[in-house]
Amino acid sequence: MNELTFTDVHAFQILDSRGYPTLRVRLTSSNGTWETASAPSGASTGAHEAVELRDSGSLYSGRGVETAVAGINTSIRELLLSRTWPSQRSVDTALCELDGTADKSRLGANAVVAVSMASARAFATFSGQELHAWIGNSLGQPERLPVPHFNVLNGGAHAANPLAFQEFMIAPTGAPTLPEAIRWGSEIYHALGLTLRQKGLSTGLGDEGGYAPEISRPEEALELITAAITDAGYVTGPSGVTIALDPAANYFYHEGSYDLNGRSYNPSQLTKYYEGLISDYPIRSLEDPLAEDDPYGWPELTALLGSRVQVVGDDLFVTNPDRVRKGIQEAAANSVLIKPNQIGTVTETLDTLTIAEQGGFTAMVSHRSGETEDTFVADLAVGSGCGQLKSGAPARGERVAKYNRLLEIADAFPALPYGLVEKFSKDRGTS
Ligand code: PGA
Ligand code: ZN
Repeated sequence: MNELTFTDVHAFQILDSRGYPTLRVRLTSSNGTWETASAPSGASTGAHEAVELRDSGSLYSGRGVETAVAGINTSIRELLLSRTWPSQRSVDTALCELDGTADKSRLGANAVVAVSMASARAFATFSGQELHAWIGNSLGQPERLPVPHFNVLNGGAHAANPLAFQEFMIAPTGAPTLPEAIRWGSEIYHALGLTLRQKGLSTGLGDEGGYAPEISRPEEALELITAAITDAGYVTGPSGVTIALDPAANYFYHEGSYDLNGRSYNPSQLTKYYEGLISDYPIRSLEDPLAEDDPYGWPELTALLGSRVQVVGDDLFVTNPDRVRKGIQEAAANSVLIKPNQIGTVTETLDTLTIAEQGGFTAMVSHRSGETEDTFVADLAVGSGCGQLKSGAPARGERVAKYNRLLEIADAFPALPYGLVEKFSKDRGTS
């Protein structure tokens, strides 16, 4: 018997890292093992993402997920218990058919993704493999320990400060091993906290555990971060620590222009502004530099900056295979951010990774700003071999859960290589 049989599926409401409801699924197989998975939730969501089902009404300010939970405990349960399952793809296809919408809005992407992730864990267990190894085999990719991208300074929709850019990440690209990379990240994070305290700036945290000081210009954030890298004893640049930005430009895009630093930029002016930042600071990755509905600026920006930095589409691609395929044809970016809950199933997520790989794009696996202790994305980053994971600061339980899972995998599988996969021009970053 090489097909999987489920004997129970049960969901219930839990809280995410922002204290809002999300859901957890417990999926039991006929061999008596069970797997759980929890849905994360974004704040700066893309317009084309699969849609979460929220209850509305007065409880939890309308953010309850009891309707999504009920869908799992009735129609999804009935479906999963109705037959045997030869593959993850068969489960995900059936879930999509049951939902019947293009954006998973009937059952809710939060319901579907949690069931899909629990099912992937069940297939991994069924085949006697760890989740990351099962993902690697499913994709036919060599596994790799990713460079952790620590979001040490928060702005935009994730913090109450006046900083327009959402995420300032440090990436220990030059660290020799994953445990070293984690140590570098922790030391730099604490060096940054010390500098902020010395300057009388707030060390309050944003949603992803990075500091959220009362600063407004990206240059101030970049100065603080490069100083923290040096203070902690590391060099900036590819052989040491590089910087990744996620401006999440939707947030400061209004009616065709970008409001930043007290002035208004058109896409080409903003691109020039980024070019200046890339020349002045050791930036190697730039995510959502433009708004998702500014598609004409993306190819222009990628043509200008794509040989010097990784241009990552998050809200632009929303982990959607069709949108990534189109983005590759248009050379709208050279990298894709991978968030399973943006598309709703593990199979579609793996398809997007395959399309990116075949199209010569890099990929970075990502958490959401609203997280749980679920560590699925850590295994996804390792199994996909993409070489990059962003999971917030090296602080706060829901963020370090993923980094700690990477450490666990590194400890158990010491032969796994660590580091970036280079697929685009190496002429980038400064040292
Ligand atoms: P989100 O932010 O989870 O709030 O969407 C993460 C990101 O923009 O990368
Ligand atoms: Zn983003």
